[in-house]
Amino acid sequence: MQMKRFEGRVAIVTGAASGIGAATARRLASEGAHVCLIDRHESHPPDGDHMALQVDIADEAQIEEAMGQVMHRYGALDVLANNAGIICDRSTITESNADTWARVLGVNLVGHAMMLKHAARAMKAQGRGAIVNTASVAGIRSGAGGNAYSASKAGVINLTMTAACDLGQYGIRVNAVCPGLIETGMTKPVFDHARDAGKEERLGSRCELRRYGRPEEIAAAIAFLASDDASYITGQALPVDGGNTASLNLPGMKV
Ligand SMILES: NC(=O)c1ccc[n+]([C@@H]2O[C@H](COP(=O)([O-])OP(=O)(O)OC[C@H]3O[C@@H](n4cnc5c(N)ncnc54)[C@H](O)[C@@H]3O)[C@@H](O)[C@H]2O)c1
Repeated sequence: MQMKRFEGRVAIVTGAASGIGAATARRLASEGAHVCLIDRHESHPPDGDHMALQVDIADEAQIEEAMGQVMHRYGALDVLANNAGIICDRSTITESNADTWARVLGVNLVGHAMMLKHAARAMKAQGRGAIVNTASVAGIRSGAGGNAYSASKAGVINLTMTAACDLGQYGIRVNAVCPGLIETGMTKPVFDHARDAGKEERLGSRCELRRYGRPEEIAAAIAFLASDDASYITGQALPVDGGNTASLNLPGMKV
């Protein structure tokens, strides 16, 4: 039987035009939420009482405007799935440039922080709310993204803790998911390259579950952390990675 943990609740999902965000919007809507899909590109809301807004989360003025529209339409905000993000090239630290750092941190960290700020203001007035940030295994270990991307995701994990400590007293929980390798728009080039080279079986083979993940598997974890099932969990970053970060995965040590 389909759970209805978000019946009548209002949720914002960022990065909702694609991948994990789109799957999260579908999941929350299927459990009864009114969902506002936010993306810099056009999003496609599921059937029902939902809305879609084109917003660049690197621009705080656009975030404030969007938040106003959500509050005007629904009068409340219960959930923020703070998920939009961008990747950067894998250049080494000696080759990296300041523009890349500023662009990636501007979306993945500052953009997340400003979404969190404005959502938390609305939630604080209500005395309740749940925020789930999308970090990454790249924020825990090296090897899953460029330097700027990984640092931005480590920042999101720390932001999750500091914001949880600021907001706990108002009944607002803040957690994060740390996805492993998931097939989405962001990772399409990796998947295309592996398939073209006939090496699809290598994708996710370093994970203990020996496979890559699906956006719906991250959406399920986000929905859990956003729901009352997680009512005593805050300030945590949950790897959803097929066991990838559980192992050092040293060459030659695997049976
Ligand atoms: N796919 C993976 O393997 C993986 C692993 C770990 C973490 N993540 C994280 O998951 C989140 C979702 O990514 P995805 O894999 O679904 O990728 P995706 O590219 O399919 O989706 C990301 C969405 O974010 C939107 N977006 C990017 N910058 C934006 C901005 N400034 N304002 C508004 N929207 C913006 C994009 O338009 C896109 O629709 C990201 O934060 C990403 O870093 C992904």
